[in-house]
Order: sequence, then C-alpha cells, then structure tokens
Amino acid sequence: MELVEAIKARKSIRGYKPTPVTRDIIAQIIDVARWAPSGSNTQPWEFFVLGGEVLEKVKDVLQQKFLAGAEPNPDFSMASSQPALYRERRVALVSALYPLLGFSRGDREKRQEWYLKMMRAFDAPNVILVATEADSNDSWALFNIGAVTQTIALVALEFGLGTCIEGALVQYPDVVREIAGIPSSKRLVIGIAIGYPDWDLPANQFRSPREPLDKLVTWCGL
Ligand SMILES: Cc1cc2nc3c(=O)[nH]c(=O)nc-3n(C[C@H](O)[C@H](O)[C@H](O)COP(=O)(O)O)c2cc1C
Repeated sequence: MELVEAIKARKSIRGYKPTPVTRDIIAQIIDVARWAPSGSNTQPWEFFVLGGEVLEKVKDVLQQKFLAGAEPNPDFSMASSQPALYRERRVALVSALYPLLGFSRGDREKRQEWYLKMMRAFDAPNVILVATEADSNDSWALFNIGAVTQTIALVALEFGLGTCIEGALVQYPDVVREIAGIPSSKRLVIGIAIGYPDWDLPANQFRSPREPLDKLVTWCGL
C-alpha cells in the first residue's frame, strides 16, 4: 500500500475475525517496524506477542479485574486530568462512537459491555504488548515507543490486518506479566490488538475526525 494512502487508511479496528495471525506474519511486521527512529538509537522497546491460550487467559483475567472494579495499576500512569481542549475531543469521540454502536454515553450497562470488549482486545486473535526496561526512567522512551507502535499499525495494513492501540490492555500489568511469563523487569507501555478486521461490525464503520490544518499549524517566518 502506498504510504500516504496507508496513513490515511489506518484506523482503530474494534472487532475481528477469529482467524489467528501467523507467527511468521507478526514477525515480518515487527521486523519492519523495528526500523522506527528512537532518540540516540536507544530502541527502548521489546515486544511480547500473545495468542492462543495465553491470550485467552489474559482476556479472562482483565475482564474479571474490570468487573470486580479493581483499581487500575498501569506501569505508566495516565493523566488524572486533561486540558479542557483535549477532554472535549475525548468526549466528542465517544459521543460519536457510542450511538453508532447503539447506545448513549449515559447507558451504563452497555458502556460496561463495551469496556469488557475492550478488555478482550475487541476479540482480536493476537495482541502485541510493547514493553520497556523497568529501570528506564526516561520519558523519551514513551515517545520512541509511540513511533514504533504507529509503524506496526501501518505495516499491518500491508498484510490486510487491522489494529487497535489499546491502553486498556495495560491497566493491570501485574496479572498480564504473570500469565504471559513476562519478567517483572519489563514495564508494559501499550497493547496492540491485531487481526483480520470484521468489516460487518458497526464499530469498524467508524472514522474519527481530525482537527483542520489551520487550527494545528502556526507558520513562523514563512
Ligand atoms: C496511547 C493510545 C491508547 C489508546 N487506548 C485505547 C483503548 O484503550 N481503547 C480503545 O478503544 N482505543 C484506544 N486507542 C485508540 C484511540 O481511541 C484512537 O487512536 C483515536 O480515537 C483515533 O482514532 P483512529 O485510531 O481510528 O484514527 C488508543 C490510542 C492510543 C494512541
């Protein structure tokens, strides 16, 4: 797929066919993505690819934790508050997405079902967890991991695959590490659901908007 076309075609896929992605294809995707840039070429990333029974167990436990109301304990904390501008965009996202799924923001039961689906990686057959060393105290590492994560999402398109970058999958990292046998020296930054999109699902018809260029760019000296 041509580069600009791929960047515009990539979107979060929130529902998958059960067909697993082969180990060979995932290896090819990561093999390309590892060419992403990183500060001083530190490459502060490592990948744990989940599938089969391991992923099923992870999905079960994440759902149980969520249902039990367990306090999330991510390795990298999420902002407890956001600037109003960003909050507005977040609210706009769910206000557009939920009606497409057949419910409103106020429908707690349906929202809970949706969160459970999120904890199941939207039924993706595979998940790539991106990790960094626990003793890395470098916020640039997160920036670098953003670059490699986007690259994975783009390369996946070349294989007819969809992805959803998911913070939800790293909300309870201790149980994920335990089930997947990931050493405690690795901090989980983000999860990427990956699989063949189920295009019949309403969630996958959704296209999130973007701010117009003139709101984002200030031209200085030109
Ligand atoms: C760091 C990060 C965390 C995200 N976490 C989630 C998540 O937990 N659940 C989810 O449904 N989408 C998640 N997303 C996807 C975003 O909601 C999505 O990228 C955004 O709405 C733009 O839509 P698009 O990916 O379809 O272009 C995440 C994206 C990023 C970059």
